[in-house]
Amino acid sequence: MDYFDYRDGRLYCEEVSVEEVARRVGTPTYVYSQRTLLRHYHVFEQAFREIEHLICFSMKVNSNLSLCRILSGEGCGADIVSGGELFKALKAGIPREKIVFAGVGKTASEIEYALKSDILMFNVESLAELQLINELSGKLRKRGRVALRINPDIDPQTHPHISTGLKENKFGIEFSRAKEAYKTARDLNNIEVGGIHFHIGSQITRISPFAEALKKIVGLVKDLAKEGIKLEYIDVGGGLGVRYRDEEPPSPEEYGRAIMPLVKEAGCKLILEPGRAIVGNAGILVTRVLYLKKSGRKEFVIVDAGMNDIIRPTLYGAYHTIIPVRKGAPSQANSSSPVDIVGPICESADFLARNRDFPPVQSGDLLAVLTAGAYGFTLSSNYNGRLRVAEVLVKDGKYYVTRKRESYEDLVRGEEVPDVQN
Ligand code: LLP
Repeated sequence: MDYFDYRDGRLYCEEVSVEEVARRVGTPTYVYSQRTLLRHYHVFEQAFREIEHLICFSMKVNSNLSLCRILSGEGCGADIVSGGELFKALKAGIPREKIVFAGVGKTASEIEYALKSDILMFNVESLAELQLINELSGKLRKRGRVALRINPDIDPQTHPHISTGLKENKFGIEFSRAKEAYKTARDLNNIEVGGIHFHIGSQITRISPFAEALKKIVGLVKDLAKEGIKLEYIDVGGGLGVRYRDEEPPSPEEYGRAIMPLVKEAGCKLILEPGRAIVGNAGILVTRVLYLKKSGRKEFVIVDAGMNDIIRPTLYGAYHTIIPVRKGAPSQANSSSPVDIVGPICESADFLARNRDFPPVQSGDLLAVLTAGAYGFTLSSNYNGRLRVAEVLVKDGKYYVTRKRESYEDLVRGEEVPDVQN
């Protein structure tokens, strides 16, 4: 469910014409719908209303300050993976006591920053990290609140690059060593053991991997309780998928119905770290057709957005639906032929779609890449000297540029050229 629709053959985001945004702001541009974002957030929130819970939006998915501020206004927290994301979370007004910090490679300075900020919890990924948090907490006269991230060794049945809960993945502490790790944590002077965390992967479209993983974790929580280690929180991570093409991911309600009873059984409070399910369908990437060309039997539609702006097709072979911003005549829409929609980057892997049946387009036409709100802008780069694109937020009939398109000056910011000429 989203608020991107055609009106008289032209694509609108809420009450704003996408053509109008492109004309004023240029292309490529990410366009987000506030109404869609809020809707997704509320559906998620409602799905868990029966039990005490905290939603920590995963900022790696989209850390646009305006979007994060909208979510924080609804009571949402943040799941972060770096000092940079902590900085942005706080800047967006997310309360420190609603921030959880995951990541296998937290540095000492990031840990200190988080301790000084008094965040809710570190999701600790190794014993070495736990020791460092203990040490730094002592130095700062703080108590480091932690959850241990336990790897439940469950196959999430998703793309291998985004599966994280298998033994061979680098994430978390091995399930078989979990108890031992909790005992170590309990005995550390400056550590407060607050919970348990797991995250098995992303774009998961079935309930069973979540339920299986949580069952294993709840079993462990009960065993720990017997040993006197009582946990306040179970953090189930993120991972709920969205529809890019024809997937039928479970709804937040189905997901909630599957996991709430297990969390209740454990007697814990629930933390969730959704990302894609909240923001995926709330964003599109608008791009303009530059050229058409044929090479052998291949037809290319060359657009002004490339893999530096949206890398998911290149990196995961991900499918994003692409639609024209202005619908052609019905006769045109019926005559589609397979094309590759490619960007301007000097890499053969720079494509947005391959062998895609697409209605005829012309140079200058605008296209919209759908479901681009998640892992879109946050994964963008300056590769090939490209400027990172603008981000626009639409609310009802108005739009706001929430991030300016970069300038050439931005490309050299911070560079210094020493006098090393021969
Ligand atoms: N929590 C943790 C600890 C995570 O590692 C992630 C995502 C999330 C929450 C949010 O997961 P979500 O609800 O969005 O599935 N770039 C890839 C996905 C990488 C996922 C990384 N971790 C993509 O574009 O598909």
